[in-house]
This record gives sequence, C-alpha cells and structure tokens, in this order.
Amino acid sequence: MKKKVLVIGSINMDLVTKTSRVPKIGETLIGEAFFTIPGGKGANQAVAATRLGAEVTLIGCVGEDAFGNQLTEGLTKEGVITSYVKPVTHTTTGTASITLSNGDNSIIVVPGANFAVTPEYVQSFEQVIAESDILLLQLEIPLESVIEAVNIAKQHHVKVILNPAPIQTLPKDLLEKVDYITPNEHEQELLLNSPELTEEELKSVKARCIVTKGSKGVMLYQDGVEKEIPSFEVDVVDTTGAGDSFNGALALSLSEGMSLEEACQFANAVGALSVTKLGAQGGMPTKAEVEEFLKSRKGEDK
Ligand code: RIB
Repeated sequence: MKKKVLVIGSINMDLVTKTSRVPKIGETLIGEAFFTIPGGKGANQAVAATRLGAEVTLIGCVGEDAFGNQLTEGLTKEGVITSYVKPVTHTTTGTASITLSNGDNSIIVVPGANFAVTPEYVQSFEQVIAESDILLLQLEIPLESVIEAVNIAKQHHVKVILNPAPIQTLPKDLLEKVDYITPNEHEQELLLNSPELTEEELKSVKARCIVTKGSKGVMLYQDGVEKEIPSFEVDVVDTTGAGDSFNGALALSLSEGMSLEEACQFANAVGALSVTKLGAQGGMPTKAEVEEFLKSRKGEDK
C-alpha cells in the first residue's frame, strides 16, 4: 500500500529569466530566455514524493486567477490530491521571480495566496493530518500555521519533517517538536545561532538536522559526530528545486521505513537527477528512474 505523505505549503508560479550573469544594481541586461514554470516549495515537494510513488495530499491556497487554475490542474495531473487546495479571491497566486544564471539561481518570492493558509485553515484538516504517515512542511506559509500543523501532528504521533526554507528565527518549542529538520548550510548557520537555545537544546536540534550541501551531499550528526553522505556528480542545468526534490524523497523513503542513512542516499540521488533539467519540477524522477540511476552509479556515493 502507498504511504500517505501530507504536504502543507506553498504553491507558486515560477517566473524564470535565464541570463549569462546577474545584473548589477541599476543595470539593464538583455536576457537569454523567459519561462513560466510550476513551483513553490510545498508543491515541488508534493510532486517529488508523488513521482516516487507516495500518495500525496497537498494543503495550500492559490488565487482565483490564471496561474492558480493552471497550477492546480498541473498538480492534479501529476497525481497529487488537490481537494484541499483552496482558491481565494482577496489576493493573487504566489509567484517566484527567479534569475537563472549558469545553472544557479536567486529567487524573490511574493507569497500572495500562500499566506491564506492560516492556522484555522490548517486546524480544519486535523483528521487529514492524523491519518498521514508523515507530514512535510516548509516556511513559505505563515509560521503560526506551521506551528499549528506541528502541534496537531504531534498530538496524533505523526512524524514531521521541517524544511526551514526560507529561513527565519524559529521558536524553541517548534524546533523541539519536529522529528527531522532539513536546512541547507546557510539556513543551518542561522538556525543554530538562536540565542534562545541552551547548549543541551542546541545539541538536540543538531541531532535532528539533515544538512543539505548541494553537490557535496548531506551531513548528519550521529552521536555528536558529523557524518557525510556524498552525492553524485551530474551535469547541472538548473539547481532550482533540488532541495525540494531531496525533501520529497526523504519523506517518501522515511515513511516507507528506510533507515535515515539509506533515505539520505536515496534522496541524494533524487536531488542529483532533479538538477539535470530545467525548472523546479522538470527533472524530478520516478522511482524506477532513481533505481536505474543508482544501479549505473554504484559505489560513486562512497
Ligand atoms: O525551492 C524552489 C522554489 O522556491 C521555487 O519553485 C520557488 O517557487 C520558491 O518557492
């Protein structure tokens, strides 16, 4: 039976400009190409886990506009359960303006309808949360809604992965409750610099961190010792959504009972494959594609 992954998070239209370099302040630059591509950390993670074989429900909001309709239709076609993606009228669908230069990106997100995912909206899905095998969250919806979701999940003994992106100061109480935290290196630095945390609490947060380091793979802290799980070398087209692919894969593999190390190895492969095509969701592989890739690269991640 398929595992139930629940994602509560953002749905954006990515407005991607491809350029040879990033313009300086005040400079006008002629770009190479422009694309509108489905994105949003929540939606991306939902698609990643769906392609890998999970039953994924996404709770989120879009605007009642062309982007909103297009994104919801696209997610439904992917097989994501979108019954709880609500169109709202008071604001527009979330957007992310992305500058893509030499495979790397910089992003400005305008949350729009993503901020209509209120704590009350989350609360109305208590039963859906309770019936999930794992809950996956990011920080592109209001922090209070993330806190509400985590509290409900914990009441019902549902495991929680928090991808703290984009990073902000997080309350101690939230950090104490989540089972896995998946910052990148920059996010981890801010996360662990919280003056609110005592030495002991810091240790406990660190022990639950899975730090994504791009092409260098991931870092775990096992019994206080750092353990690196290397990734795979691939030809990079677009790194947008690599972290989301990793998180979606991690949710699927942990819910299927893989050990943390196995889950990270699998998710590393998914992240590596995801950057070989354009767009956040463009390169996200199916399970069969990951297995084929792992077979062809046996031993490379050692
Ligand atoms: O993680 C990549 C995502 O961040 C993009 O798809 C964009 O929408 C922003 O949310």
